[in-house]
Amino acid sequence: MLDPHVVRRDFPIFDRKIHGRPLVYFDNAATTQKPRQVVEAIVEFYYKHYANIHRGLHTLSQEASEMYEEAHEVLAKFINAYSWDEVIFCNNTTDGLNIVAYAWGLKNLREGDEIVLTVMDHHSNMLPWRNVAKLTGAKIKYVDITDDGTLNYDDLEEKISERTRVVAFPGMSNVLGTINDVRRIARLAHSVGAIAVMDGAQSVPHTPTDIRMLEIDFLAFSGHKMLGPTGTGVLWGRKDLLEDMMPFKVGGDTIKDVTLEDVIWHDLPWRFEAGTPNIAGGIGLAEAAKYLMRIGMEDVRRHEMELVEYTLKRFKELGDDVEVYGPTDPRVRGGVIAFNIRGLNHHVVGRTLDLFGIAVRTGKHCAHPLHYRLGLKGTVRASYYIYNTREEIDYMVETLKQVIAMKNILSRQEEISEEICTGG
Ligand SMILES: Cc1ncc(COP(=O)(O)O)c(C=O)c1O
Repeated sequence: MLDPHVVRRDFPIFDRKIHGRPLVYFDNAATTQKPRQVVEAIVEFYYKHYANIHRGLHTLSQEASEMYEEAHEVLAKFINAYSWDEVIFCNNTTDGLNIVAYAWGLKNLREGDEIVLTVMDHHSNMLPWRNVAKLTGAKIKYVDITDDGTLNYDDLEEKISERTRVVAFPGMSNVLGTINDVRRIARLAHSVGAIAVMDGAQSVPHTPTDIRMLEIDFLAFSGHKMLGPTGTGVLWGRKDLLEDMMPFKVGGDTIKDVTLEDVIWHDLPWRFEAGTPNIAGGIGLAEAAKYLMRIGMEDVRRHEMELVEYTLKRFKELGDDVEVYGPTDPRVRGGVIAFNIRGLNHHVVGRTLDLFGIAVRTGKHCAHPLHYRLGLKGTVRASYYIYNTREEIDYMVETLKQVIAMKNILSRQEEISEEICTGG
């Protein structure tokens, strides 16, 4: 069983105090903290094996190439891909989704085709498709949510038609925590010959992911949200689709040969990894995936489900002063809790929690259309991971009680001006 108190020992950041209090890190949906093992793997690579990959016959270049290729194998295992060459290393989820939208979309979409997205999508899964729709003449349709924040599957069935070519959706909402029925969505997409593109930014780090079971065609996720370094991410794609795609970012390492007239693209995955990649980052990401596999993704999921259940239970003590969004059943929601304290601006609540050492995110979390759909200016978001404990939740709830007690004073605080959306 996952014991967060033991896990925490691998994370030096928890020795830190914030405003004189122990750090409570509840901003894991934005990015997670890093264990020693990941940082040490990166340091070891730089100190002992560093060279560019695929460019030299010398020993260091061979070692670096091998380590980087092995990292792809680890990530393939992590999501149960059929082979490691279907696994493209990229910068983050956003990058992976842009690659699909441009490299698949520009080649395959035509005027009159339809792309089905959801109102709960993060901007990273909306805007690339919207741009590609403009370039190709395709039309975008949005699937709505129900009142409790579940994807509206009736609406999905209605929106999907013979003209649908793409259905893109999140595995899990980064605001509502809703876990979507991926296989159901993928099957509906396939029933009309469309591809199913899954934004796994929030689901892959927190739930077991088996691309064979999910029956999807593309999956993108971020390394930095699963203990890995920033600047790392993965795009997995069905091999036949990847092979048919036009490389989107091209240059060094994407080719086998180039003449002034022609180009022969490299094998997968290299044709989609243009230029010198984030070699050390990829090696660090593999170490992060190994760390999570040692714990077991089922246990990660179970742990977060318990934390969510516990939070929802303890939030009842706050009565009408708190409004929580998303499904109430912890079995269909991940470790993300978005809420508001009635009568207080979300930024004011977040800033006050920070004074007590609690890191949460406030704002619209790069899901502005979802917030407009919910009629909200923003939310406070607590999001959990393997090192979070019940005691930390107790501390947050007790702190929120103090925040509520100070409501009259705090509500007079000037509202912090609109957020600058930079992630999560
Ligand atoms: C659901 C979802 N999709 C996409 C992203 C984008 O991730 P990244 O900033 O790592 O590209 C995020 C997080 O920021 C997210 O929560």
